[in-house]
Amino acid sequence: MKTCGFFTLAAFALWPWLAVAASPNHPAVDGARLYVRYCAACHGDRGLGGIGLPLSLPSFQASVDDTYLRKTIRLGRPGRIMPAFPRLRDNQIDALVRYIRHWSGNQPVKLAAAGKPGNAARGARLFTGHCAICHGKNGIGGTGTGVTLSRPRNQPIMAPALNNPGFLASASDRLVRTALVRGRTGTPMRSFLKQGLSERDIDDLVAYVRGLQDTSALTSAALPQNEGPDIVGVSPDGVAATVARLKEAVEAANMRLIRVQYLDQGFVPAGTENRQQVIVYSCDFGFLNTALQIDPRVGLFLPCRVTVLQHHGKVLVMSVNPKRLGALFNNAALNHLCNQMYRTYRNIIGEATF
Ligand code: HEC
Ligand code: HEC
Repeated sequence: MKTCGFFTLAAFALWPWLAVAASPNHPAVDGARLYVRYCAACHGDRGLGGIGLPLSLPSFQASVDDTYLRKTIRLGRPGRIMPAFPRLRDNQIDALVRYIRHWSGNQPVKLAAAGKPGNAARGARLFTGHCAICHGKNGIGGTGTGVTLSRPRNQPIMAPALNNPGFLASASDRLVRTALVRGRTGTPMRSFLKQGLSERDIDDLVAYVRGLQDTSALTSAALPQNEGPDIVGVSPDGVAATVARLKEAVEAANMRLIRVQYLDQGFVPAGTENRQQVIVYSCDFGFLNTALQIDPRVGLFLPCRVTVLQHHGKVLVMSVNPKRLGALFNNAALNHLCNQMYRTYRNIIGEATF
């Protein structure tokens, strides 16, 4: 594992040079740089996982082929957290795959042998009994991000979605079968042959997984072109009157007012704050709890904050646009909440600037 620290360091040290000289002759270094930039935040700098699944575990390496890796990177898992990377060039994807493979010393991969055509209806019953507890009803996947407070950061947590179009387009039947026959040692996914299922059961499960359609209308958070980073309203009144109306609007929306403060409060001596720049903090605690269960990172953006400030002679009322958060997290359950949050913010800002 020392070597990959070195790899990363080397990639950084050579960065300026690489920018001009990157070529297929230096694929490993190039892949390391791409990995650090696009993947490490979620999959860990040594591939041990975090928000994303572990990629360096021998059990993972031995049970997925390069086609699966390539397609997974290209297509992502729409509606889940794993983003798609449509803009990477093919040679960049190849470099990433080679970099991921260096963790196993580029061992050749042999998937489990192909099975017989299975019975999907029987597979569905087996799935309910053996798999749904982790992979969710109909394979919609575990919820959350893989980051929970109760487990070490390097433990894989969240079972991936199996009904996901990105997964189904990337994984061959043999790849699915391999996961079931061998399991993924070091993760909660255990071998079902060893747990007593028969070869026939496994064929039926593969048939069921293959037939999963994404019925839950999950979509990735494609951002409409006209969606700005902020929601902004212009008030006909001065700052103080606008803040007063904003407070009423917050309460009318059934949100708890947390505090009102000047933008520069705490940064300048008390009493000298700029009274033309005010932040109103509020929270809908029921909403907050629901959102945190879906993705703890939402906490970074809550409580809700609306800013009132004078700018070029106008009084502006502004908040972040929650639809942008939806796009950031690529999580369908969260999209729904972000849209709800968007409507609430718009109403509040509309009322305050009416
Ligand atoms: C105890 C929880 C648990 C159970 C039960 C379980 N899985 Fe998994 N499964 C996981 C986890 C976690 C992973 C990701 C493993 C990894 O990090 O490599 C996984 C991975 C997989 C994969 C590979 C998908 C991918 O994106 O990597 C398939 C296919 C799969 N499971 C199918 C099944 C089926 C079918 C069953 C029932 C027979 C089942 N699993 C039961 C937790 C579970
Ligand atoms: C924002 C976080 C995030 C980023 C960035 C990210 N991933 Fe993922 N990745 C995930 C999550 C979460 C999953 C599990 C999918 C699911 O939950 O259904 C995943 C799944 C995968 C899988 C399938 C693993 C398995 O067990 O079958 C591969 C391969 C993968 N990612 C590679 C990459 C690569 C390579 C990059 C960089 C180009 C990358 N990911 C960037 C979060 C991320």
